[in-house]
Amino acid sequence: MDKHFIHIKDLTKDEIFDLIALAKKLKSKFHNKNDFKHFHNKSLAMIFAKPSARTRISFETGFTWMGGHALFLGPNDIGIGKREAIKDIARVVSRYNDIIMARLFSHDHILELAEYSDSPVVNGLTDYNHPCQIMADILTISEHRNSLDDLHVCYVGDGNNIVHSWLQLAAQLPMKFTCVCPEGFTPDVETVELAKANGGSEIVITHDPINGVKGADVIYTDVWASMGQKDQAVEREKVFADFQVNGEMITRTGKDTLFMHCLPAERGRETTDEVMEADYSVVFDQAENRLHAQNAIMVTLTSK
Ligand code: CP
Ligand code: NVA
Repeated sequence: MDKHFIHIKDLTKDEIFDLIALAKKLKSKFHNKNDFKHFHNKSLAMIFAKPSARTRISFETGFTWMGGHALFLGPNDIGIGKREAIKDIARVVSRYNDIIMARLFSHDHILELAEYSDSPVVNGLTDYNHPCQIMADILTISEHRNSLDDLHVCYVGDGNNIVHSWLQLAAQLPMKFTCVCPEGFTPDVETVELAKANGGSEIVITHDPINGVKGADVIYTDVWASMGQKDQAVEREKVFADFQVNGEMITRTGKDTLFMHCLPAERGRETTDEVMEADYSVVFDQAENRLHAQNAIMVTLTSK
């Protein structure tokens, strides 16, 4: 594996399967309350420029369970890129800490952090992508299906950071990936091209919420206005009205579909209470699997 964990496209297909297998082993140890002190006497710096529940809690809990100490550094603590240059922060923080996890606005900033850090950097979300989330998601799907062969994942909503990581996964693992989004809210063109070019996957970008979801094994959605876009929420609600994942849309797949959402969900907007609470909803499995997938990522990064 690369020195850092910044994009899914940096992983090979085998590395993705190895991470899934290790995450399953670590999950079993965690549930059985077995000791696993891989990070004894080690520390993890967690830099957050944006809010978080799952990312903060799962990284801190996971690293603590593995015997280490995790430091929370919020937006007002180190002022990354404002109080101090990113390349300076990278060299200072990596002298103190064995791993750096960062959630930042600009993707260029995490690239710069990684370039100057001596310790592995893990991407905890940028405006461009969210690779830890997609590793937890594919782990979750693998637990709910016999195999990852012939998988059709259909994402409905804004062509955002979650979609970019799904497209990068589709570049490595053969699948059908459909993004059903309103015009003007399509994912990054280069990332779509990468997914189409690399892996034998079928990639469909469509504005048709009636036909686009047909045959999907997974319907995935996310908020219509991401962090940093919340001032557009009311305006976006009108544009996205036909893209709500509700019970009727799930029925239109014509399949025993799983419902997935990275959370936090805005119930009543991109999805409904009915769907969130349905038997086919695996959103809390996804949330739990953040912890196990990230533990596997951190162990792999530090086991060379
Ligand atoms: N899914 C996710 O990353 O959640 P948080 O924003 O709460 O960390
Ligand atoms: N697209 C969302 C994901 C949150 C986990 C955001 O960036 O706010």
